Amino acid sequence: MFDLSDYKWWQKAVFYQIYPRSFADGNGDGVGDFAGMIAKLPYLQELGVDAIWLSPHYPSPFVDCGYDVSDYQDVGREYGTLDQFKQFLNQVHQRGMRLVLDMVLNHTSDQHPWFIESRSSRDNPKRDWYMWRDGIDGNPPNNWFSAFGGPAWEFDARTSSYYYHYFFKEQPDLNWRNPAVKEAMFNAVRFWLDLGVDGFRLDAVGTIFENEDYPPIPEGMSQEELYRLGFKKSNPDADEGFVAYFMQMFGQQVDKPEVHQLMQELRTVVDEYEDRVLIGETDAIEFYGDGTNELHLNFNFPLMQADKLTARHVKQNQAQRLSALPEKAWPCNTLGNHDVSRVYTAFGDGINNDAQAKLHLMLLLTLKGTPFLYNGEEIGMTDLLIRDQQLFRDPLSLLYVDLERRVNGTDEGSAVVVGAKKGRDRNRTPMQWSNEPNGGFCPPEVTPWLPVNPNYADGVNVNDQVSQPDSMINFYRRMLLVRKQNPALLVGDYQEIDIDNEELLCFSRKYANDELLVVLNMSAENRQVVLPRKVNQILINTLKNWVHIEDPAPTLLPYQGVVYRVG
Ligand code: NOJ
Repeated sequence: MFDLSDYKWWQKAVFYQIYPRSFADGNGDGVGDFAGMIAKLPYLQELGVDAIWLSPHYPSPFVDCGYDVSDYQDVGREYGTLDQFKQFLNQVHQRGMRLVLDMVLNHTSDQHPWFIESRSSRDNPKRDWYMWRDGIDGNPPNNWFSAFGGPAWEFDARTSSYYYHYFFKEQPDLNWRNPAVKEAMFNAVRFWLDLGVDGFRLDAVGTIFENEDYPPIPEGMSQEELYRLGFKKSNPDADEGFVAYFMQMFGQQVDKPEVHQLMQELRTVVDEYEDRVLIGETDAIEFYGDGTNELHLNFNFPLMQADKLTARHVKQNQAQRLSALPEKAWPCNTLGNHDVSRVYTAFGDGINNDAQAKLHLMLLLTLKGTPFLYNGEEIGMTDLLIRDQQLFRDPLSLLYVDLERRVNGTDEGSAVVVGAKKGRDRNRTPMQWSNEPNGGFCPPEVTPWLPVNPNYADGVNVNDQVSQPDSMINFYRRMLLVRKQNPALLVGDYQEIDIDNEELLCFSRKYANDELLVVLNMSAENRQVVLPRKVNQILINTLKNWVHIEDPAPTLLPYQGVVYRVG
């Protein structure tokens, strides 16, 4: 058996995603920054997180909220300076935490100097750094779509040619088949590794290569039809028709086999440094390689791609996911990030949300694998629907307003609500630090870059919650501590126990001589559970009414979860 110290830090860590623009505003301009992040490091330490994943902090015209990078080796001025970044990194390390950056490999901003050069003339040395093709009889090179709306090809009058973009047209795809691109990007990776960052979350890895032959997709496919069918790839509840349509539409543009060779090369670069980690924004198991030679972690997105987190869904998900992993691969779970609804909103039924949010955290932190939290979930932040199009910052919202109007004939006012629900501003609003104007995120007289959710005034803020023992944040702190203190939860074997109840999830985590029993009532009814093991301690309970340790068949209240020690 392995000793706990044989496991890597990233196998035992709880990661916390910071969305820098919305986390903490240190200079009072309505935009989060490094000064703010530095000031909040004691907060993160007290919360008990071990590692930070920082969403893009690079210079960016901010068309795709930072995922359109215009310089990979600097810091966006609104966030601060490279020196401040170094201070931040240093202090993260001094506090015993780690820092992982976001690395956007597939595309740059159209304002990146590389692209500005590339588009300037057909014989520019950087021409081939992007994917240029001539049109055919006045039409784009083929009929591929962009996943973010419209055709995948943008006409550029300067050279009468088209460039390819999988995402927005302001995000031209790099041509990774050109060795100079690889070299330049690997240099950017090395730049941050040399500064001491602990690894990268790799954006959209599945989209790096396309079918080189550019075969057209079947005639007549349309984004309107895709929209009509629903929009959740790999959602187990999704209509198979949708998934099939999606794959027909985008299959030539994603998950091409060459990407694995590239990931292996990147792994070699990263392995030149000690103890760094690569985390893929993908749920495709293939990105683990043989379990040792590609990415260290890939997200188990199917876990969160369900309308409800039922016991059944979790069991199916774990069975599929864990059995598919190569032998040495390590699982990685999350329930929310900057692209999807906040966990409190996504999985709350409107009645039991607090109990559910606590239960869902208990699930995430007791399943096998590295958990990722998203900033704000620790105080139960909810989605905010922005009802004024002028305030949308995510262009995807506008795309959805347009699709909703055209496909479903919805009136403008209602379509805006749909746009707000399907876009991503709703889950990116500023962190709510206190019950002061603007939730304490920025000074009262300043307009934050996205509106603050007014529920900061109803207790959804850090300050109010820290003083209340039963608050969401204090449950998060306790749960993180229980995890940290129990190696069985960090690295122990995971085994589901069939307790003959569809609505209850029960599993054991076992390490050395220690066995813990996790029992989760994932339903809105009271459920009695005959404990499958003799237990001698309750480590943590999501609800206040303590179940009795002597009771071998306790009744768990709706959405109650308990972690016991067996013995
Ligand atoms: C995935 C990121 O998470 C998302 O926010 C972004 O829009 C796309 N990749 C494009 O970079």
